[in-house]
Parts: sequence; structure tokens; C-alpha cells
Amino acid sequence: MRQDAGTGKGGARSGLNIVMLGPPGAGKGTQAERLAQKRQWPRISTGDILREAVQQGVSIGEVARLAMDAGRLVSDDVMICIVEERLNRPDARTGFVLDGFPRTVEQAAALDRMVDGRGPLVVLDVVVPEDVLVRRLATRRICAQCGSNAAVNWTTACEKCGGKLVARVDDGDDIVRERLKVYQRQSKPLVDYYSTRGTLRSIDGNQPADVVTAAVDAAIEGAAAAGGVGL
Ligand code: AP5
Repeated sequence: MRQDAGTGKGGARSGLNIVMLGPPGAGKGTQAERLAQKRQWPRISTGDILREAVQQGVSIGEVARLAMDAGRLVSDDVMICIVEERLNRPDARTGFVLDGFPRTVEQAAALDRMVDGRGPLVVLDVVVPEDVLVRRLATRRICAQCGSNAAVNWTTACEKCGGKLVARVDDGDDIVRERLKVYQRQSKPLVDYYSTRGTLRSIDGNQPADVVTAAVDAAIEGAAAAGGVGL
């Protein structure tokens, strides 16, 4: 393990710090939400943070919207700043689930600096064939109000808040093709970046969601045992 397992700076007990890697539609958000709920760790989704900024009309929102609507990445300096601020909040000091960050090697290097002295960084790479990703994104519906992914049995309205179900703006055919290209070019190299460490786990994401969740749990338990971290 790269970080000292178990204790953080000042001797505070640290939990696991989880990173979900994988292409658009792999199920990172679905699994990150389940994991965060089960372990009581904050889920930090950079996609959700950016969509919120767009909705609220704050200054980075407009820059983010232009990149997201084109299927490109928001710049590293903006993303690093957002995540650094978020990871410094008290609820993230003893473990977190990062969904959508890092997406470039530069972001990964910055994350290493941010978690220096904290608990181990466990990286889960969710693997799904491209044709399955394209199908999932073409049929995905989200709640226009709270942003939740709609489950297949939600037909007209969000079960959580009653909001209208809509397609995500960046799930259009052309944008999805661009997002997949960007993933291959800028994010796939992260698998190599992390592969020399003992804490990268590959997860088969092309299975029913509950089976994927069980694989994620097993990977977390294994990483915790290897790092001497209690869950
Ligand atoms: P973000 O929102 O992070 O999008 P993404 O990475 O493209 O991922 P998705 O949300 O599309 O998919 P997912 O893997 O989370 O799958 P999900 O669980 O939703 O980022 C959006 C944009 O923001 C980026 O394009 C970029 O512009 C910008 N951005 C964000 N972070 C950035 C960063 N760090 N740097 C720069 N720019 C950044 O599932 C997808 C669908 O499949 C759902 O319908 C779900 O119900 C279904 N599903 C899930 N699991 C299964 C399963 N096992 N079987 C069948 N269906 C399943």
C-alpha cells in the first residue's frame, strides 16, 4: 500500500478511501451510492457536483456545462480545486467514495497528494463492454428534479421525489461517442497508473447490479484486511 494503513496524520484512525474508475455507463454511480450508504462514507460524485453548479448558475457552472454538453472533460485545475475542498471537509476525513475523479493522470497525481497521510486508497475499476455501455446510456432516464437514475420499473415519475423522468443531456448518441473516446484517451491510462499498487481491483460490471455490489463488497473487505483497516 502506498499510504500508511490505518492511521492518518495526528494519529486519527482513518477508513478506506475508495475511487471508482470506469467508462460512462459502467455503473460507478450506482455502486458508489450503495457502497456509501452501506459503509456510511460520503459519496463524492464530481458529475453531480458539476450538474449542481450548472443548475445553480454559479460561475464554474457555465464553463462546466460547455464541456459536459460536448462530452469533454472539465479542466484539471478546476476539478482538482473542487475535490481538494470537498475532501478537506470533516465528513471525508475518515473515508469516502469518489465517483468520477480522477479522470486524468494529472488528477490522480493530485489526489495522491491530497490523501497523503490518510487511510489507503482502494481503486475499483468497473469493466463493461462498449456495446453494453451504449445501450445503457441510450435508455437511461434520470429525475429532472433530484437527478437520481431511474430504476427500470419507474415508468413515469421519480420514486424518491415524484419528479419528471428525462434523458440526461449528455446521453445523446453523438455525445456518448465522444465521452467514450475521451475515456479511452484520457481516463483509461489510469488503470496503468494504479496497476503497480496492490490496491487496484477489477470488477466485472456486466452482471446484474446486485451481483456487482457483492463483488464490490468483497473487494473492499479484501482491501481492508490487506491494509489492516477495520470496517
Ligand atoms: P459523470 O456524471 O461522472 O458521468 P460518467 O463518468 O460519464 O458516468 P455516468 O454517470 O454516465 O455513468 P456511471 O458509470 O456512473 O453509471 P450509472 O451508475 O449512472 O460525469 C459527467 C461529465 O462531467 C463528464 O463527461 C465530464 O464532462 C464532467 N466531469 C465529471 N467528473 C470530471 C472530472 N473528474 N474531470 C473532468 N471532467 C469531469 O449507470 C448508468 C445506467 O446503467 C443507469 O441507467 C443505471 O441504472 C444502469 N446500470 C447501472 N448498473 C447496471 C448493471 N449492473 N446492469 C444494468 N444496468 C445498470
